[in-house]
Amino acid sequence: MGVFSRHIGVLVCAALVRAQRESTSGFEWVDPLIGTTNGGHVFPGATLPFGMAKAGPDVYGENQGGFASDGSPIYGFSHMHDSGTGGSPSLGNFPIFAQSGCPNDDINACKYALYERKEARVNGTVHARPGYFDITLANNIRTEMTVTNHTALYRFTFPETPITPNTTLNPHILVELSDLPQTRSEGNITVYASNGRITGSGRFSPSFGIGTYVSHFCLDFDGAKVKDVGVWSNTRAARATSLKVIPGDMRKTPSERPAGGWVQFEAPKKKNQMLARVGMSFISEAQACANAEREIPKNNFDALVGSAEDAWRAKLDVISIQDGGVSDVLKKAFWSGVYRTMISPQDYTGENPNWSSSEPYYDSFYCIWDSFRSIHPLLTLLDPKSQTLMVRSLLDIYVHEGWLPDCRMSHCKGNTQGGSNADVVIVDAYLKNITEGIDWNLAYEALIKDAEVEPLNWDVEGRGGLESWKNLGYIPTENLDILGVGTETRSISRTVEYAYNDFTIALLARALNHPEDYQKYLSRSGNWKNMFKSDQRSIINGTDTGFVGFLQPRYMNGTWGFQDPIYCSPLLDFTGCYLNPSGGETYEGPVWLYTFFAPGDMSTLISTLGGTDTFLARLDWLHESGILYVGDEQAFLKLFLYHYAGRPALSARRAHQYIPSLFNDTVAGIPGNDDSGAMGSFVALVMMGIFPNAGQDVYFITPPFFESVSITNGQSGKVATIRNINFDPNYRNMYIQEARLNGQAYTRNWLQHSFFLDGGTLELLLGPEESTWGTRAQDVPPSLGPFAANATAKRWAMHDFDPAPAPAQPQFGF
Ligand SMILES: *[C@@H]1O[C@H](CO)[C@@H](O)[C@H](O)[C@H]1NC(C)=O
Ligand SMILES: *[C@@H]1O[C@H](CO)[C@@H](O)[C@H](O)[C@H]1NC(C)=O
Ligand SMILES: *[C@@H]1O[C@H](CO)[C@@H](O)[C@H](O)[C@H]1NC(C)=O
Ligand SMILES: *[C@@H]1O[C@H](CO)[C@@H](O)[C@H](O)[C@H]1NC(C)=O
Ligand SMILES: *[C@@H]1O[C@H](CO)[C@@H](O)[C@H](O)[C@H]1NC(C)=O
Ligand SMILES: *[C@@H]1O[C@H](CO)[C@@H](O)[C@H](O)[C@H]1NC(C)=O
Ligand SMILES: *[C@@H]1O[C@H](CO)[C@@H](O)[C@H](O)[C@H]1NC(C)=O
Ligand SMILES: *[C@@H]1O[C@H](CO)[C@@H](O)[C@H](O)[C@H]1NC(C)=O
Ligand SMILES: *[C@@H]1O[C@H](CO)[C@@H](O)[C@H](O)[C@H]1NC(C)=O
Ligand SMILES: *[C@@H]1O[C@H](CO)[C@@H](O)[C@H](O)[C@H]1NC(C)=O
Repeated sequence: MGVFSRHIGVLVCAALVRAQRESTSGFEWVDPLIGTTNGGHVFPGATLPFGMAKAGPDVYGENQGGFASDGSPIYGFSHMHDSGTGGSPSLGNFPIFAQSGCPNDDINACKYALYERKEARVNGTVHARPGYFDITLANNIRTEMTVTNHTALYRFTFPETPITPNTTLNPHILVELSDLPQTRSEGNITVYASNGRITGSGRFSPSFGIGTYVSHFCLDFDGAKVKDVGVWSNTRAARATSLKVIPGDMRKTPSERPAGGWVQFEAPKKKNQMLARVGMSFISEAQACANAEREIPKNNFDALVGSAEDAWRAKLDVISIQDGGVSDVLKKAFWSGVYRTMISPQDYTGENPNWSSSEPYYDSFYCIWDSFRSIHPLLTLLDPKSQTLMVRSLLDIYVHEGWLPDCRMSHCKGNTQGGSNADVVIVDAYLKNITEGIDWNLAYEALIKDAEVEPLNWDVEGRGGLESWKNLGYIPTENLDILGVGTETRSISRTVEYAYNDFTIALLARALNHPEDYQKYLSRSGNWKNMFKSDQRSIINGTDTGFVGFLQPRYMNGTWGFQDPIYCSPLLDFTGCYLNPSGGETYEGPVWLYTFFAPGDMSTLISTLGGTDTFLARLDWLHESGILYVGDEQAFLKLFLYHYAGRPALSARRAHQYIPSLFNDTVAGIPGNDDSGAMGSFVALVMMGIFPNAGQDVYFITPPFFESVSITNGQSGKVATIRNINFDPNYRNMYIQEARLNGQAYTRNWLQHSFFLDGGTLELLLGPEESTWGTRAQDVPPSLGPFAANATAKRWAMHDFDPAPAPAQPQFGF
């Protein structure tokens, strides 16, 4: 105590001085290019927060995010993207491409098909910041872009003298009826000779789901007089004003039959510049044009860049940091992570062709298996209003599709990777006062349906094997399922995820006063134990790791199968557990990893794995053997499980093990696909020292990577500050010695969301050695097990200074 008090007075003054010195907005530190190579698949182009229009270059190569910082050539600029997708590229419809003129003024001497027209970039010409992207290609044409919610705006600057021989400056701009993954099955285009407008539509396939979607665009130009217009097909142009592509082979037609429209212009009037405005819609061409005309009535490029910047500053400025002198690497990694969390889901309200509704409609929940762990919890902290609209949108999807999605993109149902994880998003939101306009009885109905009713195709919604789930208490390997059809793999990972989904449903059942359901789902949440084979060992090349007891495959008759606990890890057959019929019994990770997944009942897991010491040794082995791949979302929580064993200091150490070595400010600076901002939200939450256990009202306390972090709550307007005392930017003082919440000693190693709603200050006194802070049984986050139940009861009595739980919120503790 004494040490703590002596530090406070002096340091608060110092902090105030420093705050004035370091008042730059996080905006200045965002680098949208982080994660644009090395498989990060980040979209680095121009977008508004959650905007539908996302303008960016598309490379001819690995182009999941459109652009890549890998030197590959660029074949166009398109107006909608998803960010960080793991599988095939998404969207990228109707790319446009500019040429300075056609050699010898011959329209057929211009280039049309993407493999002909693609151009190298000029290295060093890429400039990206939120809401703006700039690049110059080898043809000396500079393209800058910005966006509004549904419209992309491009500014082309042409060279005075085109670099192609025998060419005068007569800008030629084409549009192609295609998308990034080349899925167009039908399409049409209309070109208007009077003003050069081009409109069109196409039918495309989603990148990780079923069905098809139709998209429409409306392209207008400004800055030069129209000289000529037409359409093109394959490598030839014609002076016709419309073109139709009829349905053909779904996945192959765009490359088999490239097609589109073009307009050629007289020399631009001013500064060799021209603007192209592209309105987008999923409803009609007319709506695409109306969106463009409403959002960008005047071609004022610079003012729109300013508006986009303002929109981003407003989102980012809810966080303020005193950096305490840490390196720019960390500031860039942090703010860029926050930024990427707000790229998706995308607000398609008013653009849903499937049903009309007064509810908001968000799309690109891509995928909830990835986003429930960190993206949605971070949005709840930083932008509760948007999170509220997203939850309402999920429920409206349930109303109209019959099921909550586990993944959704481009208006289509996406693939389910494990459990029905929208359950976790919804319960997390409930526990954190995401309330406005949400019908919780409807939400409860949707969750119970996930838990009780098996869909015919459980590859795209709900859960499979529910009969076994209910009767046997696990998902058997080689299950017999006559209720529905889906990919019969991942029996182990599906079991532990369904169990956790049921755990969160139990929390909502209790809160909404359904005591029988509460007991039922609480009991089912223990089903993970039914796949725990207590005598299973992990022997690697003849050497026993010494740990006994792992999850294992189990048949319907109760006998055990075998999956090597290291299979599907970097140590053995890393890619063996993808989403395909020959995948293993775990998903994108080994048994070693999934054996740690019981987020609602960690105390039982700790005793199941042999008690605290063995648990800690196992967790250390997980982090030190090379088996853990932190580039996949299931790894995230594993950094913080030490909290449950009363060793929060070890969680802090793990946080520094991975940041910045694997999460940094380089274009390769994330270890895996960003998956709509998952890696970004992870790094942001870890650096703020408040990683959540999603689906519960629990944040693990670790020292922020900055001297202090403040978050202004979007519902209450209150400010919550976490301040490190004795902060050292080289992190020698990595461990919490003592903590104070609003001036009073705080010994729990976890926080509840009421801290952010009510505002206040959490001060953490740091030191170079692990201390006893947060180590006692009553200091650890709640669990289901009998010991925890006792400890929890004691805890509520002991900590009378704890903020009272918000009214109408359930008390945590079992
Ligand atoms: C541009 O950068 C890429 C790598 O990003 C490299 O392969 C290429 O050689 C560079 N080009 C020039 C002209 O330096
Ligand atoms: C863009 O959409 C967001 C909601 O997603 C909204 O808050 C914002 O006002 C819109 N911007 C404009 C300029 O309409
Ligand atoms: C350029 O024009 C000249 C004269 O018309 C012609 O001889 C030459 O082949 C042209 N070059 C190209 C590359 O088209
Ligand atoms: C183009 O295709 C879309 C979608 O298939 C359709 O709604 C539209 O009417 C078509 N337009 C023309 C001009 O054929
Ligand atoms: C929604 O629209 C897509 C694309 O048009 C279609 O594939 C899907 O079946 C539709 N869903 C519903 C519920 O109508
Ligand atoms: C249980 O089922 C598995 C898989 O079908 C089979 O290999 C095994 O022999 C069965 N065991 C018993 C005891 O019937
Ligand atoms: C096991 O042995 C094989 C063959 O020597 C080797 O390639 C592999 O890396 C070893 N695996 C581990 C995890 O040590
Ligand atoms: C940055 O992160 C990447 C991806 O995880 C990693 O490969 C690289 O080594 C890191 N670079 C630095 C300088 O830490
Ligand atoms: C919870 O959210 C509602 C609706 O946004 C708001 O009125 C209320 O003040 C919030 N409660 C707290 C404790 O902030
Ligand atoms: C928990 O409390 C109950 C009732 O007081 C007691 O019987 C039980 O032994 C306690 N369990 C542990 C692990 O302390």
